[in-house]
Amino acid sequence: LSNILIFMLSLCDITFLVELSLLSSSGNHGRVATVLVSQMRNNATSPNIKVDFNQSTGVAVLSMQSPPVNSLSLDLLTELCINLEKLEMDRACRGLIITSNQPKVFSAGLDILEMYGKSPERCGEFWRAVQEMWLKMYGSNMVTIAAINGSSPAGGCLLSLTCDYRIMVDNPRYSIGLNETLLGIVAPFWFKETMANTVGHRNTEMALELGLLYSPSEALKIGLVDQLVPQDQLLTTATETMKKWLAIPDHARQITKSMMRKPTLDKLTSNREADIQNFVSFITKDSIQKSLRMYLEMLKKRKA
Ligand SMILES: *[C@@H]1O[C@H](CO)[C@@H](O)[C@H](O)[C@H]1NC(C)=O
Ligand SMILES: *[C@@H]1O[C@H](CO)[C@@H](O)[C@H](O)[C@H]1NC(C)=O
Ligand SMILES: *[C@@H]1O[C@H](CO)[C@@H](O)[C@H](O)[C@H]1NC(C)=O
Ligand SMILES: *[C@@H]1O[C@H](CO)[C@@H](O)[C@H](O)[C@H]1NC(C)=O
Repeated sequence: LSNILIFMLSLCDITFLVELSLLSSSGNHGRVATVLVSQMRNNATSPNIKVDFNQSTGVAVLSMQSPPVNSLSLDLLTELCINLEKLEMDRACRGLIITSNQPKVFSAGLDILEMYGKSPERCGEFWRAVQEMWLKMYGSNMVTIAAINGSSPAGGCLLSLTCDYRIMVDNPRYSIGLNETLLGIVAPFWFKETMANTVGHRNTEMALELGLLYSPSEALKIGLVDQLVPQDQLLTTATETMKKWLAIPDHARQITKSMMRKPTLDKLTSNREADIQNFVSFITKDSIQKSLRMYLEMLKKRKA
């Protein structure tokens, strides 16, 4: 009774092949078809991501539903990239709202388990996927809105920052910020620039050096988010805001977006391999691995 989707992809290729393996209900014989991602159905869903595409509005709502906290693992990033690629190539899709289906958290950020005790090759593969997610989101032709219904630290904040507009649920328990320095990790230049392009140099300097996490109202004050709403108005507000953005002729908006973001995008595109090398040699250092281990142990104790 199960349809199992097995995909193998090379994230560095613009078009990648997906192996779609449809197993029959008996499970002992299968049919394998190779199809282009672009030919897959618009609202096909993968386990950790749900996409609802509304044909009449041209807007897709992408919900992350990877328990418990939407950590950006290699798997989740890969699924995210496949879905983004599909939506981007679909001319009917003009707007994308990203949100979470998990309680209290938008995304907890990059999955530490992908960086701890892993081979340099695997770390490199992971980092390439982080880059790919960022390149696709920051460079998207679609109007992108983050509907942030929960905490959004580190990589979760980065994902929010790649969008054109951010709406956050006004709950003082939620926080958002690039807090990687707290863990002894340095946010790379493209994280830094994405933030500086949004909240300016000085705010970014303080936020990154101190690893600051902002409450929704503090985030609003520095422009880290654009609007606060009660939880029950999040999706309707995002949908209304989307209408406003989609009223602008696509080509003019897209060229303008590209003009604003291209210098930052180009810097990573032309330095991807060096950036991966940098990350791998940094993260595999004994001292960094040691602080990751301590952090993981602390999390375990907190849970217990
Ligand atoms: C989306 O999914 C629904 C049901 O799951 C299906 O009826 C509909 O045809 C799908 N739309 C597209 C564009 O594939
Ligand atoms: C699509 O959007 C239209 C206009 O907002 C709405 O009336 C309709 O219910 C939506 N369709 C679905 C399947 O959500
Ligand atoms: C926000 O989080 C809840 C889970 O607590 C989820 O059910 C809901 O769909 C999410 N998204 C929006 C846009 O409210
Ligand atoms: C970053 O902030 C989140 C949310 O408060 C927290 O769970 C996480 O532990 C923080 N990271 C570090 C390294 O302190």
